Amino acid sequence: MGERFHDIAVTVNGEPVRERVDARKTLVDFLRETLALTGTHIGCEQGLCGACSVRLDGEVVRGCLTLAVQCDGARVDTIEGVSDTGEIADLQAAFEKRNALQCGYCTPGMLLTAQELLRGGALPSREKIRDHISGNYCRCTGYQAIVDAIEAVARQRAEARR
Ligand code: FES
Ligand code: FES
Repeated sequence: MGERFHDIAVTVNGEPVRERVDARKTLVDFLRETLALTGTHIGCEQGLCGACSVRLDGEVVRGCLTLAVQCDGARVDTIEGVSDTGEIADLQAAFEKRNALQCGYCTPGMLLTAQELLRGGALPSREKIRDHISGNYCRCTGYQAIVDAIEAVARQRAEARR
């Protein structure tokens, strides 16, 4: 039988972290319980709702389907990190302005997923935005305001690049 505990070295929000983790610990539990980064939420724990979305080496992944040990040597960015750097300040402002959040449970995952779509300078259609966030469930807003906010930021960023 393999070892139950493993030493991992991860860069979380730019900070080096070394921890001994249970082989079965998920990334979202590691972030929330070990590092007290509770901005990443837990919903379904089955990869369906997107509440646990975080970035792993630049790609948005499900924190509930990723094991902490799999992140050894990787870079993890959470909502706290991208908020602190100001990377998504415009998205956060647009979500607030357009009432694109109510309870806020889905919001961290939704913002990271939206940023994934817009990061390369995309100016996506509303259909493309809907498609991209389709793995992130929101029980409150009906999505319209979320799509409005993401579309507004895409346009804003395109204007700023001119
Ligand atoms: S908690 Fe991970 S996808 Fe729902
Ligand atoms: S704002 Fe409540 S789940 Fe999206």
